[in-house]
Amino acid sequence: MQARKKITINDIKAKKGKEKIVAITAYDALMSAIFDEEVDIILVGDSLKMSFGGESETLGATMEEMLYHAKAVCKGASRAFIIADMPFGSYATKEMALQNALRFYKESAVDSIKVEVGLDKVDIVRALCDEGIAVMAHIGLMPQYARFEGGFKVKGKNESQAKLLVDTACAMQEAGAFGILCEGIQASVAENITRELDIPTIGIGAGSCCDGQILVWSDVFGFFDKFQPKFVRRYCNGKEILKQAIKEYAKDVKEVRFPNIQESY
Ligand code: KIV
Repeated sequence: MQARKKITINDIKAKKGKEKIVAITAYDALMSAIFDEEVDIILVGDSLKMSFGGESETLGATMEEMLYHAKAVCKGASRAFIIADMPFGSYATKEMALQNALRFYKESAVDSIKVEVGLDKVDIVRALCDEGIAVMAHIGLMPQYARFEGGFKVKGKNESQAKLLVDTACAMQEAGAFGILCEGIQASVAENITRELDIPTIGIGAGSCCDGQILVWSDVFGFFDKFQPKFVRRYCNGKEILKQAIKEYAKDVKEVRFPNIQESY
C-alpha cells in the first residue's frame, strides 16, 4: 500500500469550513504509529505529565522531557501534522520563547509548537511567527495557569470573558498563529470565535462548532479513569482490556504454559 502524503500546515488551514480536523495527543512512537493514518494532527501535549507521568497538573514538564517525547512521536508518524507543547516557563519572554521553540525545530521533526496564551503573549507569538515557527495558540482553560487560577476553569461564562476570548483569538490570528486551540470554552463562544476567524479552531470541551476536535489519548481509550470530564467520550475500556491480558500472562507464567516449545530456542 502506498503511504499517504504528509499533512502540511497548508492542508490544516485549508480544511477550515470544509472538513472537520481530527486531532489526538500521543507521547511515544508506538501510539503515534497507530494514530498516524487516521488523524490529521498529533499533539505532543504537556498533558503527558498527568496521563503518562501520574501528576495532577502539567506545570512540571521540562524542555528536555518534551523534546524526548516529541522525537519519539515524530519517529512513529510519517503523515500526521505534529505539534509540540512548549512547557510552562519556556516562553516567559520573547528570547526564551525563540530559543526554546528553535530547539523543537532543530532537535525534532515537529511541524509546529503550541503555547497557552492571553493578550499579554501577542508579541511573543508574533516574534515566533516572524522567525518562521508555526504557532498554535491555546486559549480558554489553560492547564498551565491552574495554580494561578485555583484549578481548571471553564471560560466564556459571562460577557466580559466571552469578549476577551474572541479578542485574544483575533489578536493571535493577526500575530500570525495558524490555528487556535479552544479548551474548556462555552460552546456558543467557541462558535463565535470559529466564525470570526479565517484560521481553524480545534476544540476540547468547546462544543461541536470548532473546525476540529482533540482529545487526550488515554481518555479516548479508557486508560485514565480517576475521573471523567464531561467532554470526554471513551471509545474503549483500555484499562480493562490490558488488565485481562496481564492476568492471563501472569497465569500462563505461573502455570508454566508460557513459553511453550514453539516459543523456545
Ligand atoms: O497538553 C495537552 O494535551 C493539551 C490538550 C488538552 C489539548 O493541551
